[in-house]
Amino acid sequence: SQGLQQSILGLIRDVPDYPKPGVLFKDITPLLDDSAAFQAVVTAMAEAAGDVTKVVGLEARGFLLAAPVALALGVGVVPVRKSGKLPSETYAETYDLEYGTATIEIHRDALRPGDRVLIVDDVLATGGTAAAAASLVRKSGAEAAGLSVLMELTFLDGRDRLTDLPIHTLVAV
Ligand code: PRP
Ligand code: MG
Repeated sequence: SQGLQQSILGLIRDVPDYPKPGVLFKDITPLLDDSAAFQAVVTAMAEAAGDVTKVVGLEARGFLLAAPVALALGVGVVPVRKSGKLPSETYAETYDLEYGTATIEIHRDALRPGDRVLIVDDVLATGGTAAAAASLVRKSGAEAAGLSVLMELTFLDGRDRLTDLPIHTLVAV
């Protein structure tokens, strides 16, 4: 709803020149600290999820949203972590950053064929992280049923890298 969108926008703090000069960082910590707004966000994400069997959360900020969304849906939550953090056997996916690359991983036995997976993160920017996460879901034999984010930075065109992945965004800037 427009009311929810306005309250989300009012609780996301713009931090100029973080993590480097020229970048306007979208800080969701004021939203997380507002229980009513956080609850409304989780409910809206869960209502938009459709019929899924797992939620995958993307380290680190995605974890804060993925866990309550999974509980609201009554399904398990699976972490996608940065390289070297998961203890058991993993699938890995490397993607490009502005400078260099990043690798994320998922446990090989976390998902199975037949799983319909909702990927949850805080922000969709270039789409690199979400695209790599969708690849991990597919490598696991499961279906990437959708991506749900709190905020989409539309000027970075992340959506264009995520064809065949339905995207739900609460606010777009
Ligand atoms: C940020 C953000 C998203 C991702 C979006 O995470 O939380 O996960 O970048 O960017 P992209 O669409 O261009 O891939 P970051 O990698 O900074 O790490 P964090 O969540 O651990 O803070
Ligand atoms: Mg992140």
